[in-house]
Amino acid sequence: MISSFFNWWVIVITLVNIFACYWLIKWTMKSRPNESAAGESTGHKWDGLEELNNPLPKWWLWLFYFTIIFSLVYLVIYPGLGNFKGTSGWSSHGQYDAEVADSNAKYGPIFAKFAATPIAELAKDPKAIKAGERLFSNYCSQCHGSDAKGTTGYPNLSDNDWLYGGEPDKIKQSILMGRNGVMPAMGPALGKQGVEDVAAYVQSLSGRKVDSVSAEAGKAKFQVLCIACHQADAKGSYLFGAPNLTDTIWLHGSSAASIKKTISEGRMSKMPAHNEFLGEDKAHLLAGYIYSLSN
Ligand code: HEC
Ligand code: HEC
Repeated sequence: MISSFFNWWVIVITLVNIFACYWLIKWTMKSRPNESAAGESTGHKWDGLEELNNPLPKWWLWLFYFTIIFSLVYLVIYPGLGNFKGTSGWSSHGQYDAEVADSNAKYGPIFAKFAATPIAELAKDPKAIKAGERLFSNYCSQCHGSDAKGTTGYPNLSDNDWLYGGEPDKIKQSILMGRNGVMPAMGPALGKQGVEDVAAYVQSLSGRKVDSVSAEAGKAKFQVLCIACHQADAKGSYLFGAPNLTDTIWLHGSSAASIKKTISEGRMSKMPAHNEFLGEDKAHLLAGYIYSLSN
């Protein structure tokens, strides 16, 4: 019901607008009771210039008529009138699909050639890097930044700090399969003071000045609740994507407040899987580009 309402809604508004344009032209051409005769002065004068009551030039008028006819013809041929698809069968989806098929035919062999080269080798090939960079700015930069340096919640891909590992095949797997980083909410298990203490301990790991009694209490809790993922030395684990907590690189912000928030409320990050719409070959090339950034 709703869809047919909007179908007619769009059709009526569009057609009324077009006919209103025609009516407006006709209406402005009608002579009015107090109007001066054609070619005579309208009585408006300014700075020695006088306005005469001249009709629009014919060619100008026909330009208006032409645009009206054009829009009607256009609406018959192309989609525009509600759900009516137009007689040509053109659609933006169809055009997109055709362009994708086109570019696959054109660039597929190039990607296939790169796909046969090991990722570590690609990272040394300026041509491959250039092509990978282009793919990156299309598919990845909205999250990881055009320089791949990331931002809060989105990891930097150009340094040597990895959540899931920086070996070529690990990077490629991140791209193809996606990743889910889940830091569970520990507030309920720790309590308010517990969160304070563990946060103090976490901050002490990267050399920050903290209350040592609180950090000591936090360390004991850390060894019970956190090491399954972050490991006893707090250097993290690629298996869970648990970050290294002993360095000064922070995925979710370095302030004491954001560290406490992470511990108490947890965090969830999702790297979407790209295998479906990128395919193996492009992911391979992208992995080469990412690998080149830190190697
Ligand atoms: C919708 C946002 C988004 C897009 C688009 C995206 N990523 Fe990610 N990516 C993330 C997030 C968030 C993470 C961190 C996941 C986690 O913490 O578990 C991540 C993680 C990664 C990792 C693992 C980093 C590590 O330290 O182990 C790699 C590699 C990566 N992305 C590459 C890419 C590439 C290449 C593209 C483009 C094809 C891309 N990403 C597109 C959000 C995105
Ligand atoms: C089930 C595994 C798991 C456990 C248990 C766990 N973490 Fe995490 N932690 C993670 C993961 C995964 C991330 C990264 C989340 C993301 O990708 O957004 C993370 C992120 C963090 C961060 C943010 C790091 C940054 O760079 O911003 C801190 C701080 C942290 N954890 C502390 C702790 C503390 C303290 C505990 C124990 C009280 C704990 N974690 C228990 C898996 C875990």
